[in-house]
Amino acid sequence: MKRTLILKVNPRNPDQTRIQIAAKIIQRGGLVAFPTETVYGLGADALNPTAVLALFEAKKRPLDNPPIVHVADAEVVYELAKDVSKKAELLMKKFWPGPLTLVFRRSSIVPNVTVAGLDTIAIRMPKHKVAIELIKDSGCPIAAPSANLAGKPSPTTAEHVYEDLNGRIDVILDGGFTKIGVESTVLDVSVDPPIILRPGGTTFEELEKVICDVKLHPFVRSEAELPLEKIRSPGMKHKHYAPNAEVILVEGSVTAVKNKIKELAEFYRLKGKKVGILATDETLTAYNADVVKSLGSRFNLASIAQNLFRLLREVDAENVNIIIAEGVPSEGMGLAIMNRLRKASGYQIIKTK
Ligand code: TXA
Ligand code: MG
Repeated sequence: MKRTLILKVNPRNPDQTRIQIAAKIIQRGGLVAFPTETVYGLGADALNPTAVLALFEAKKRPLDNPPIVHVADAEVVYELAKDVSKKAELLMKKFWPGPLTLVFRRSSIVPNVTVAGLDTIAIRMPKHKVAIELIKDSGCPIAAPSANLAGKPSPTTAEHVYEDLNGRIDVILDGGFTKIGVESTVLDVSVDPPIILRPGGTTFEELEKVICDVKLHPFVRSEAELPLEKIRSPGMKHKHYAPNAEVILVEGSVTAVKNKIKELAEFYRLKGKKVGILATDETLTAYNADVVKSLGSRFNLASIAQNLFRLLREVDAENVNIIIAEGVPSEGMGLAIMNRLRKASGYQIIKTK
């Protein structure tokens, strides 16, 4: 068991000496959790195979699921990747720094463990001062999956990271809560047209405006687990975002969803179960259950994205047996929200009209 050091940093103006302490640890092969604009990442030197292996171990992450490599300078892409297309360059120009991860063909300088033996590599430039300064001071690209134990909701605060990884990593840079709240969009640009493998902080609609032809992998909208042969991104086949409680997702029109959830809550209450409900501002007062929390307003999907992982953890911490969550429309940020909720439910989805 390691001692995990927590260093508070101002997200807008981080203390240089604290960033330097963390950067030294990365250079020595250690593990540093840090905030990005999406969720907290757990970083290691992407070019140091021993460090990356330790990263997988700390998270208990399956070795076949590669992390995203974070860079502070777009030029580094040409060292880590091959065949960077004009379209990819346009996307980097428009969306970096920001919540868009691009999948390229990899170059030979990247260790096998960093890409889990694949011939592609996922790269992004985060839009967060702490992340960018840490990468710059470390002097290397930083491999960073989300800083949670594998299978748990991604961390949006340093406390979430501590809950999952205390004693397993060297440092947590605590820069407060993260703004976007869901992870980056993963877009495969090693194929044409590019294909979204994971919806996230950059919406389908925004991407379409810039490159017209963008495909959605069937998994992105999927309402069931995919057959193995359809899997394009290793992350698709692993369990995700799952609280300890059973999660049921209810989709449909607001009124139908409200009625169905009331009925379900009553049903489980009579069975002696402790029930948690993830409602929205518009429906919050309709419910009567052990724990009822609002994800945010249906008219502000960005705020729902921001709250989602925190609320999954909070409701779970109340030791409920069942979490019933309301679905939202799959537009804009709604696509990422619904993808995470469906996965969290293990595809226990109820559709109402
Ligand atoms: O916002 C984010 O993306 C956060 C922050 C820390 O940057 N990171 C994050 O990383 O969510 P992670 O490792 O939890 O998710 C990376 C996703 C996984 O679904 C993984 O399978 C996929 O990216 N991925 C990584 N390399 C890939 C590759 N070469 N081809 C296809 N998918 C890949
Ligand atoms: Mg993750």
